[in-house]
Amino acid sequence: MTTTVTTIAGLRERLAATPGARVALVPTMGALHAGHLALVARAREIADVVVVSVFVNPLQFGRGEDLERYPRDLAADEALLEGAGADLVFAPPPEEVYPEGEPQVRVTAGPVGALYEGAVRPGHFDGVLTVVLKLLHVAGPDAVVFGQKDAQQVFLVRRMVADLDVPVRVEVVGIVREDDGLAMSSRNRYLDAAHRRLARGVPAALDAAEAARADGTDAMVDAAGRALGADAALDYLAVVDPESFLPVPPGYRGPALVLVAARVGGTRLIDNRSVPLG
Ligand code: PAF
Repeated sequence: MTTTVTTIAGLRERLAATPGARVALVPTMGALHAGHLALVARAREIADVVVVSVFVNPLQFGRGEDLERYPRDLAADEALLEGAGADLVFAPPPEEVYPEGEPQVRVTAGPVGALYEGAVRPGHFDGVLTVVLKLLHVAGPDAVVFGQKDAQQVFLVRRMVADLDVPVRVEVVGIVREDDGLAMSSRNRYLDAAHRRLARGVPAALDAAEAARADGTDAMVDAAGRALGADAALDYLAVVDPESFLPVPPGYRGPALVLVAARVGGTRLIDNRSVPLG
């Protein structure tokens, strides 16, 4: 049975009742879909107690972004999490997480946090890392599970865990896609039928980049831009070294990740694919 708790004390009390149990945390902002459920399934495999946090973190939204309209449906999330075998749902109100309002002290994501998503959404990753570190302190899990769709988030969480010696294992689960290839995202529900068709251009851009990989990164970026289509507005398309998350230099050979972000109507969509070069 899945139990929902809304306070830090309540969560800690529940976790203290199973000393020695392996705990996995799945941080989410709710509006759950099959991508999230894959994270819960992985957590279920590796832990005795699975905690899923459902918290729309105001700190990671910029002015004019979709904080207010971000989809919230805790009852639907709870039903899905019950079916997925989660033990605890941690669904605090904002004042439980940030009792003083905006925290004075927060995690700084560093230079990579200012690239790609961070360039389009300044401060976003400071907000993400701050809440993730707080959730890790609150739940004290052995493992924390993230989805590869947010590749830059995964990179930065790993860096935070390494740089700040956070005692947790980071587990990453592959991207779950709709039948037509669109990566699952809570924001997909903003798309009407016409925009939903255009959104197919995002994974198509990754297909095109991959198909052009023998011709170099400039050709990959050009091909991806063409495949995206003129009706989607490209925010960025980059080929990065997964070790550093910096753009690969000309003539690079080795593991690479193609990142894409685009706006379809008013909706931002992100995706990525591993495309080894050379
Ligand atoms: O990936 C998300 O849903 C959020 O960025 C996270 C990790 C739950 C932090 O709010």
